[in-house]
Amino acid sequence: MTISASPNPKIEQQGVVNPTFWNGKRVFLTGHTGFKGGWLSLWLASMGAKVTGYALAPNATPNFFEVAKIAADLEQSHLADIREFAKLKRAIADAQPEILIHMAAQPLVRYSYDNPIETYATNVMGTVNVLESIRTLDCLRAAVIVTTDKCYENKEWAWGYRENEPMGGHDPYSSSKGCAELVTSAYRQSYFPPEKYSKHKVAIASARAGNVIGGGDWSVDRLIPDAIKAFEAKENLMIRNPLATRPWQHVLEPLSGYLVLAQALYEEGARFDGGWNFGPLDENARSVQETINLLIKNWGSAVSWVQDQDEQPHEAHLLKLDCSKARQHLGWVPRLSLEQAIESITQWHHAYQQQSDMRETSLRQIARYQNLRNFN
Ligand SMILES: NC(=O)c1ccc[n+]([C@@H]2O[C@H](COP(=O)([O-])OP(=O)(O)OC[C@H]3O[C@@H](n4cnc5c(N)ncnc54)[C@H](O)[C@@H]3O)[C@@H](O)[C@H]2O)c1
Repeated sequence: MTISASPNPKIEQQGVVNPTFWNGKRVFLTGHTGFKGGWLSLWLASMGAKVTGYALAPNATPNFFEVAKIAADLEQSHLADIREFAKLKRAIADAQPEILIHMAAQPLVRYSYDNPIETYATNVMGTVNVLESIRTLDCLRAAVIVTTDKCYENKEWAWGYRENEPMGGHDPYSSSKGCAELVTSAYRQSYFPPEKYSKHKVAIASARAGNVIGGGDWSVDRLIPDAIKAFEAKENLMIRNPLATRPWQHVLEPLSGYLVLAQALYEEGARFDGGWNFGPLDENARSVQETINLLIKNWGSAVSWVQDQDEQPHEAHLLKLDCSKARQHLGWVPRLSLEQAIESITQWHHAYQQQSDMRETSLRQIARYQNLRNFN
């Protein structure tokens, strides 16, 4: 981390997303067809940013990208592979971004056990391709590389992980994200060293968030999407690890962290280089069982869950992030309780069932998050 020891109050950040800052900014976003990328595209476009997206076509039906009509506001939407370096480099050069946010990834732990080569190729070489593409780009000022809380060497202890703790990862997904962190750090030291910032003028950070939940996630093998699918089909939900604790957070929480971080990198430069944790409130680290019971209560119909007795591949049991650095230096704090997050997911999916305009529904959730200290 490169934050100086004696913070200068003039440049400490306020922790809020600033629409004026984003208005007119050219942003290159990888992973815009995904769950988090779709929400971020919508948020950026609502503030007037000129967003170019780069990702594979959505691979599930329904999906947030189509349901919330994300393509409508983009400058350009490239449906292409980050493993194709030449194509990616050309798309980035054509877009001439001032800010890049890299989110495209193979993000699923269990899928990574069956598909390790694809996972490493996408998450590690994909990140190399992104960083290599910006190495000689004159217009770029800030890059945020999105990894995960799972990038840390997990000691299954009760304390939150801090940004300066070792990278690790038991399974291919987690370790690929630890590798993406190391790649980011090597590129920063080799090509964008903080001490030469006045020459290259590029600030690069990585961002680590927890288990992200929100309306419009239809991924396979994730608790909330699996639960909603089971509820809609009126089937019992199978749960693998009911007692595992996860740091649950509403999707707008880490996204606000990425945006606040990008603002700081752009405006204050290399001082904000390095890794940043954007986890939930401490009390949101709750068991799978408690979380699903909360969702069932909110959903409002008779649904239930049973424990899946099949043997399961290893998954971390306890993972917590220490977010003191983001709080102190960016002024960023999580705002939503798990109860509020679950309520917003329920509202979103009930609106979807009633065939509401999901773009408007999502924009309203963004506006409420942005304007209010409390979500409700
Ligand atoms: N959802 C979570 O709980 C969570 C938690 C921590 C970190 N993350 C990270 O956040 C990011 C976004 O995750 P998400 O939940 O939105 O996942 P998602 O699966 O919904 O979206 C992934 C995106 O990456 C794109 N992508 C995948 N492989 C690609 C390739 N080879 N070339 C181009 N694009 C490709 C997909 O097309 C999609 O746009 C990922 O980097 C993920 O690791 C997610």
